[in-house]
Amino acid sequence: MLGLKLATDPRWANLVESNIEEILTDHAWCEQKAATNAITIISLNSEHEDLVTDLLALAQEELEHFQMVHEIIKKRGYKLGRERKDSYVNELFKVQMKGGSRQQALVNRLLFSAMIEARSCERFKVLSDNIKDEELSTFYRELMISEAGHYKTFLGFARKYGEGIDVDKQWKNLLEKEGEIIKNYGKSESIHG
Ligand SMILES: [Fe+2]
Ligand SMILES: [Fe+2]
Repeated sequence: MLGLKLATDPRWANLVESNIEEILTDHAWCEQKAATNAITIISLNSEHEDLVTDLLALAQEELEHFQMVHEIIKKRGYKLGRERKDSYVNELFKVQMKGGSRQQALVNRLLFSAMIEARSCERFKVLSDNIKDEELSTFYRELMISEAGHYKTFLGFARKYGEGIDVDKQWKNLLEKEGEIIKNYGKSESIHG
């Protein structure tokens, strides 16, 4: 799916289902981080009008997702816990966000963002296909479609603004590295855990 090297073991979804409050808190903060990341890309690359336009819309969608998760948390009588660390994303950031020209830094960040969207999309599908909770199953299917669109947006801009850079080769390299990183996950009740 989306070129990912390693599929998530569906048993991860059973683990998640044993602690819905925890996954919802973690998920809410994932959406906040996604919105913040899009705004950071905008602020660092404001000369690209089309990128600003599309990432403003994307940031708004991520905030809407945050709001939707928060509404579910409230409706179920849960509490939005404190922000959770995302060690998968932090590991990915370290391997991907190395130096280079300003143009290379933009491509790096766009590929990093596309990668997180791709894995989140895959995790949402695994949740949607495997959890018994019907409301959440439907919810995660909707989000899966939205995040797949975000993946395409980021990868599309990486190709557009990566003139003179072998973006497809760098994407393939990142897919390999992500495949190594994700081997150590799939064992906890978090979206990328
Ligand atoms: Fe989202
Ligand atoms: Fe997204």
